[in-house]
Amino acid sequence: MRFFIDTADIGEIRDLAATGLVDGVTTNPSLVAKTGRDFIEVLKEICAIVPGPVSAEVAATDTQTMLSEGRLLAAVAKNVVIKVPLTPDGLKACRAFTDEGTPVNVTLCFSAAQAILAAKAGARYVSPFVGRLDDIGADGLDLIADIVEIYNAYPDFTTEVLVASVRGAAHVVESAKMGAHVATLPPAILRAMFKHPLTDKGLEAFLADWAKTGQSILDTKTNGTANGSKSTRRRA
Ligand code: G3P
Repeated sequence: MRFFIDTADIGEIRDLAATGLVDGVTTNPSLVAKTGRDFIEVLKEICAIVPGPVSAEVAATDTQTMLSEGRLLAAVAKNVVIKVPLTPDGLKACRAFTDEGTPVNVTLCFSAAQAILAAKAGARYVSPFVGRLDDIGADGLDLIADIVEIYNAYPDFTTEVLVASVRGAAHVVESAKMGAHVATLPPAILRAMFKHPLTDKGLEAFLADWAKTGQSILDTKTNGTANGSKSTRRRA
């Protein structure tokens, strides 16, 4: 499963990209607005930090203006993916972008019917919003299951399921079980995925026991290979 980071915050992106676990970035107008910065400048910086796909969303609602905006965004860097809303105009723009070789992430998907349309429009990704469905008492993961089942039934559907509006690790784990291709994670959720109390407890115990040995792995006296002496390891 590929992990994208769902933020436009440069500091967060830089910090998490250093983990080697970040395969791309998704932004949207709300996330860009939170930065208080110029969109194009932020997009340039994100694309320079993360070589993987970086979704940049158009602000227009009509196809022609979406195309103008999207072409400008695509020119910022080669790893830009254009994000369009799942509307008739958005899918017309999706088809046009796809035909000219520009990848598209179709966002604000809330039903399997919509996801079928996104695939037919040639989207590279469809972004079903799991958390916002949960927020209204629906089951966002049911939508992921439906989309994965439908897409798997049609080999000519090349669109990848990009799970969005993720509210916790459970959304990631359950979507992964279903075979969703990508999850886009708020930074706090990726960080939370590292955490387990038994890991902390186990590491504390290992370190306490190691301290009792009085040894240091880097201290060459400990392993008998004093400076300059030949390693005793057999070559594989
Ligand atoms: O990528 C879409 C995501 O940013 C929406 O998340 O939490 O606003 O539903 P949320």
